Amino acid sequence: MEMNKQAFEVKFQPNSAKSQTVVYLVNEKMKLPKELQANPQVKGAIDQSKFDGKRKKFITIYLGTSRIVLAGAGEEKPNNAEKYTREIGADIQQYLNGIRAINASVVADDATLAANMAYGALLKSYTFMKYFTKKKDEEKPSLKILSFSVVNEKQAREKFAPLKAIADSIFLARNYVTEPPNVIYPESYANSIKAELSKLGIKVEILGEAEMKKLGMGSLLGVGQGSERESKMVIMQYNGSKNKKETPVAFVGKGVCFDTGGISIKPSDGMEDMKYDMGGSAAVVGLMHALASRKAKVNAVGVVGLVENMPDGNAQRPSDIVTSMSGQTIEVLNTDAEGRLVLADALWYCQDRFNPKFMIDLATLTGAVVIALGQHKAGLMSNDDQLADQLYNAGEQVGEHLWRLPLGEEYDRQIDSKIADVQNISNMKGAGTITAAQFLKRFVNDKKWAHLDIAGMAWATKDKPLVPTNVATGFGVQLLDRLVANHYED
Ligand code: BES
Ligand code: MN
Ligand code: ZN
Repeated sequence: MEMNKQAFEVKFQPNSAKSQTVVYLVNEKMKLPKELQANPQVKGAIDQSKFDGKRKKFITIYLGTSRIVLAGAGEEKPNNAEKYTREIGADIQQYLNGIRAINASVVADDATLAANMAYGALLKSYTFMKYFTKKKDEEKPSLKILSFSVVNEKQAREKFAPLKAIADSIFLARNYVTEPPNVIYPESYANSIKAELSKLGIKVEILGEAEMKKLGMGSLLGVGQGSERESKMVIMQYNGSKNKKETPVAFVGKGVCFDTGGISIKPSDGMEDMKYDMGGSAAVVGLMHALASRKAKVNAVGVVGLVENMPDGNAQRPSDIVTSMSGQTIEVLNTDAEGRLVLADALWYCQDRFNPKFMIDLATLTGAVVIALGQHKAGLMSNDDQLADQLYNAGEQVGEHLWRLPLGEEYDRQIDSKIADVQNISNMKGAGTITAAQFLKRFVNDKKWAHLDIAGMAWATKDKPLVPTNVATGFGVQLLDRLVANHYED
């Protein structure tokens, strides 16, 4: 697969360097940089435009053959300065493309400020244009070089390096999810993961249907049996800890490359959205890529179950009973509740083989979580309060918000089957996100575990602070990278 790379080059340069377009940050206090204070043209432009330094306010002032941009920086001391700064960087990038700047520099002084602005600008600049054959250059982003004038360039570059690693990884995740399902299907996806991650020294294994059958993964295989495409499981191992034998942390992802619903087929309106039903798996792949790229000092395992849920003559039927790798039998009452069937075997395999510190799974699992939390927060369910808190806090730091939902015996009773150990949906209405999680919980073997239902978060139907519209978000990469950085590196 041809990879979509970042749109512009990021540079850090000494304060004296000059560019065609120079951007100055001005906050609500409206204190102008020294070199502009005595300039009557600047004063006139500010007066006429009523520029007040508020966030999202910009003005361009033409001075001879060059121009300057004043970018509203809003509050002087914002709450979450890191997030705030990233979002300003994102807005500046957008504005610069709006005024068709090609080569621009932002006066930043401070290295951390510059690195975070650059990171935000990159994340927001993501485009997915490879399938446009007729777009003219003037319809594409203009910006080619974005430099930051800083006091200490070396320090800025050092601060930026790990952020750039994460941005590249988020792009990778967004690419996989945004690609159409005739291009990214279990086999092509698995091969691409292997190609991309092996480069970084990650060990990548691919299991095919024969191997999964031997392992007893009847739950995952049942989902893929109505598809022409072979189901795959990809196992990724990154050993960055000083102690190569250190117990790993583990991440598991739902990779349904397309979800028609199977025999319990979905209505055609909106079915196209189900190409992003592999968002959980892409977050895991992106995370592994991020950890290896920034040489995180941790041992981490990623497991993704890749299938296509299709309704052919061999497809599984509502009321089929399958046997999972755990030995538990599952009555499949609805073939559209397939993500949990994939994860059941992926989770069991993961804990059985790696005995990790914990497992965190990510999945676009239920429409119900979108009803509950919309496109603003992902659902978080866990059997461990400490892990849940760590996740929640990491999410607040990076702006990938989570909200915890309960688990409990009452919900678990809703998925007892009349004929097998468990059924894949609840017959009672309500709490669909929780009953899905209860199902997963039966396959974690009492390991510390958290489940993130990202159904509302994987795709940007609306502009988000650090994601453009109509592409995948890469949700989860930053969050989990931060979780690891906060608590699990030596
Ligand atoms: N992939 C869907 C969930 C989904 C919905 C993801 C909307 C993203 C946006 C999942 O496989 C599914 O179909 N879930 C069903 C479960 C139901 C049959 C119990 C749902 O949520 O309707
Ligand atoms: Mn489904
Ligand atoms: Zn699905």
